[in-house]
Amino acid sequence: MKRIAVLTGAGVSAESGIKTFRDAGGLWEGHDVMEVASPEGFAKNPELVMEFYNLRRRQLFEVQPNAAHIAIAQLEKDFHVNVITQNVDDLHERAGSTDVLHLHGELLKVRSVHGYESIEWKKDLHIGDLHTDGSQLRPDIVWFGEPVPAIEDAMDIVAKADYLIVVGTSMQVYPAAGLVDYAADDVPVYYIDPNPAKLHNLRNPFEVLAMKASEGMPIVAEKLRTNL
Ligand code: APR
Repeated sequence: MKRIAVLTGAGVSAESGIKTFRDAGGLWEGHDVMEVASPEGFAKNPELVMEFYNLRRRQLFEVQPNAAHIAIAQLEKDFHVNVITQNVDDLHERAGSTDVLHLHGELLKVRSVHGYESIEWKKDLHIGDLHTDGSQLRPDIVWFGEPVPAIEDAMDIVAKADYLIVVGTSMQVYPAAGLVDYAADDVPVYYIDPNPAKLHNLRNPFEVLAMKASEGMPIVAEKLRTNL
C-alpha cells in the first residue's frame, strides 16, 4: 500500500466549531497565547491556565468531526495513512483515523509537572489534582518554548511517505512547519487552506487548493485514488 502522511492544523477542525488561533486575531478566547500556553504563564497564574484548558476540554464534548476529518479517515481504505496533527482535539480519532500522532499534546490527557507519562483525563483538572507520585498534574499540552517529543517520529513518517497532504495550518509554528522539508523530492505535496501560506524552497511537485478543508480533502482523496 502507498503511504500518505497528512499534516493537519487548526483549520481542519474550524468547521467543527473549534476556533483557530491566528484567525481569532492572535487571542485564544480573549487571552494572550503566552498567558495560557507557556510554562511562564502557568507559573504566573496556574488557575487561569487550568480553567482555559477545562473550557476547551468541555467544548470537545459538544463538537463533532467534519467532512474533512472523515475524508482523511476514509483514505485508510486504500492507503497506509499517518495523521500528524498539531491539534489537541480528538476529532481525527472520532472520525475513524487509527494512526494519529499529536505533535502538540492532547486535551484528553494530563501528566505530572515532572514527567512525560500521559494519563487519560476527561473531566476538569484543578490545582490539587495530584499524580500518584504526589506531584501536581497539568494538561498534557506542548506549550510554547517546550520540546516537541513526537517530532522525530513525525520526521520519519514524512520521510517514508509517497504523498504528503497539508491541511488547515498557517505553517508558522516550528518545528511542525519544517516537516514538509523531510518529504523526498519527488513526493507530491497537496496544501489545502483558504488562506495558504507561501511555502518557500519546496522542490516537490506542489498543488495548492485555496479552499476549506471540507471541500479540498475530498478532491485530493479522489485525485489520489485515481492515481492508484
Ligand atoms: N479549512 C481549512 N483551513 C482553514 C479553515 C478551513 N475551514 N479555516 C481556517 N483555516 C486555516 C487558516 O487559513 C490558517 O492558515 O487554518 C489555519 C489556522 O492557522 P493557525 O491558527 O495558525 O493554526 P495552526 O497552524 O494549527 O497553529 C499551529 O500554533 O496556535 C499554536 O500550538 C498551536 O498547534 C497550534 C500551532
